[in-house]
Order: sequence, then structure tokens, then C-alpha cells
Amino acid sequence: MRKRSTFGNRFGTVAVVGGSVVGLGNIWRFPYVAGENGGAAFIIIYIIISLMISVPIMLTEFSIGRYSRRNSMRSFKKLSDNPLWQGVGFMGIATAFIILSFYSVIAGWSLEFLRESVAGTLTNSSPEQIKNNLDTFIASGWRPALWTVAFVVSSCTIVGLGVTKGIERANKVLMPLMVIILVGLAINSFSLSGFKEGVDFLLRPDFSKITWSVGLEALGQSFFSMSLGMGAMITYGSYIKRSENMFKVAGTVAISDVTVAILSGLAIFPAVFSFGISPTSGPDLVFITLPNVFAQLSGGYIISILFFFLLFAAAITSSVSLVEVIVAFVSEEFRISRLKAVILATVSVTAVALMCSLSQVPDSALTIAGYNLFDVADNLSSIVLLPVGAILIIVFAGWVMDKDIFRNELTSRGHHGTTLYPAVRTMVRYVIPIVIAMLFLSKLGLI
Ligand code: PHE
Repeated sequence: MRKRSTFGNRFGTVAVVGGSVVGLGNIWRFPYVAGENGGAAFIIIYIIISLMISVPIMLTEFSIGRYSRRNSMRSFKKLSDNPLWQGVGFMGIATAFIILSFYSVIAGWSLEFLRESVAGTLTNSSPEQIKNNLDTFIASGWRPALWTVAFVVSSCTIVGLGVTKGIERANKVLMPLMVIILVGLAINSFSLSGFKEGVDFLLRPDFSKITWSVGLEALGQSFFSMSLGMGAMITYGSYIKRSENMFKVAGTVAISDVTVAILSGLAIFPAVFSFGISPTSGPDLVFITLPNVFAQLSGGYIISILFFFLLFAAAITSSVSLVEVIVAFVSEEFRISRLKAVILATVSVTAVALMCSLSQVPDSALTIAGYNLFDVADNLSSIVLLPVGAILIIVFAGWVMDKDIFRNELTSRGHHGTTLYPAVRTMVRYVIPIVIAMLFLSKLGLI
């Protein structure tokens, strides 16, 4: 059997995993979900969850993947005879589909905004025009649909050509650049009239706003942002070197992920209050807020081009990890060539993504229980599918998988994190499943 290739040094591993993890989840989704859930109190829970719950789950997914060196569904097969567990792998593939369907829509918006930035229309608009432009763009139906298709085709082509390595290399430059821009925008926030209000919203918690439902939103956001609960990190784990200290990788990735999200919040909320935008604007939030900042910034023309290009780049490095999960599964399970699998993935993802895009047109009939398909896909994946997937993965690791295999893998055969191991195991076996189950039961009104 051919030796499975592995990532290079630690920086390489972190950069590749970071490419999947840092994306629209941090820059687009985090601010809008934080805005809808009251700001600071939500953010504190989100940070606690990311460090205490998401890191152990990431370690668990890495361990499963690194041990079995297979795609996520095969990993379960290798570790347990019970075919039911392969269902977890299968669920992850369905989740990848659903995430791609709305993710591609927002990534498509970033392309439209890149186009408008280059044309100069974005930075020449008043706050009302910025909002109207976005509304007209969405209402046209076909314009966002075209960008969505363009994005899906680009992601699938990258996977098909097998140039993800090149993309990852580019990412080592692009990601730090995005951080620099966000830091710059956060610093610029000091000069905005809404600075104090924005920072209060982000950093001064009103604990009365904490409810079970806010907890579940924070959990879902953290899983989405760290690409957990659907097997992407099992797949990435399968490329991690046997000698690598996974605690350091997961810790660095988690801290980077949270930092990018907070920076994005600092870039956005002072502007939200300065321009009289509602923090509960929903998925539009970033797209109606930042253009206002760029419009009044000297050098805003160039910065807006760079920003939307980098947002697109961040989105594509995340979406290739989703497409890869689908393509690996289809080609290996149906024994068809990768090219055929890529074509199949392109066609099917395009179809679902188009429906999500068109469902945003006002009065569209593409709704479920009164919510458009886009919102359904967005919420369903973070609030239901990823937490359910995560609970199944850790119950598998904590209760089904051989104890010694888990220990050996997690600690790289006793070389790293042996003192932390008992704590991680307790979290994985008891604490995390109970916390997730409680959040669900209370959301359903059962406790
Ligand atoms: N974590 C990615 C982001 O923040 C999205 C993603 C979720 C990617 C799940 C892969 C798997 O944009």
C-alpha cells in the first residue's frame, strides 16, 4: 500500500487545518450570530466552549483520522464492526452538502462585492445606497445565482485538479494578510463615533441575556467555525504525522480561530453603531456594514478590493475541505474515478446551492415552515447537524473505540500531553455529551 502523505512541519499542519477552519464562519457568521444573540454574553460562552469543548472534539477527530488514515466513513469501519457507526460518516457527508449549499451563496456575494469594489461603486455609495444595492442584488435572483455557481465550480475545479496543495501554500500568505486587514479595521474603529457603543456591545456582558438557546447558538457557531462534527477534521487528521503534538496543533488552531472572529467583531460592531445599522440585521450584517467603513476610509478603494478578495480566498480554502469530504467518499465508495466524482459533486452541489440562493429572493416559494431554504440550511447545520455529529463522534471515541488506541493516538504514544489526557478523556466521555444533550433538551423545551 502506498504510504499516505502527511503534512510537513507544525506550521504547515496549522496552516492547512487553519485554511479549513478560518473562513466565512469567522468573518461573516460570527458577527451576525453574536449580534442576534446579544453580543458580549454570547461571546464569552462562545470562547469558553471553543477552548473547553471544541478543542477536545478536534483532538478526538484528529485521533480517529490519524489512527485509521482513511476517509471519515472508512475510519469508523476500521475502528468498529458495528455498521451503524458508518452512519456517522455518512451523516457528515450529508452535512457537507448542506453547508456548501449556503456557504457558496455567501462566498458568491464576496465575489459580487469584489466586482463592485473594483468598479469603484462600493466606495462611492451612501449608507442607504449600500443597503439598497444589496437588496436589489439579492432580489434580482439571477445575479447572486451566477456568482454562487461560479464559486461552486471554482471550488470543485480546485479539488478536481488536485491543486489544493498550491492553494494551501497561497494560504500561508493570504491568511496573515487577512489578519493584518482586520487588525487595521479594528484600529480604525477607534475613530468611529460608535466606538464606545460597539466595544460595550462586544465586551460588556449582560448576563441576563444568557439562555439555553444562546448557549446552543454559541456551541453551533463554535463547531461551524472550527469545522467540527462532520468529519472534516477526521480527514485532515489522517494526514497529520504520527509524531506531531496534536495538542499544540488544536490549541493553536482554536486560538487563531477565536482571534479572527473577535477581530472581525471589533472591525464591525463600532461601525454598526456609527452607521445606525441594527446588530440583528442577520446574514446581511457584514455586507452592509463594512462598505460604509471603506467608503469613508482613505485608501478605502484598495482596501475594499483586498478585503473582499481575501474573504473569497478564506471561503475557498474552507469550501475545498467540504468538497473533498464529498469527493473522497463518492470516489472511494462507488469506485468511480476522481474526475467523475468531482463532476458529480459539482452538479449536485450546484443544484442545492442554486436553490438556497434563489430562496433569498423576497416572496420566494423555496421555503420550509416559513423560512427560506438558505436560513434553514444555515441553522440546521450549525444548531442540529454539527452538534449531533459531534456528540456521536465523541461517544464513539469515548465508549466504543478501543481505549488504548485512543490514548496512544491522542498522546502520540505517550510522547505528548500525557498529563492532559485524563482530563480530555473525562470531557469526551462525560462532560461534553452531557452538556450538548442538555442544550438540546432545553431547546426542545424538555428541561
Ligand atoms: N469552518 C469553516 C468556516 O469557518 C466552515 C466549515 C465548516 C468548513 C465545516 C468545513 C467544515 O468558514
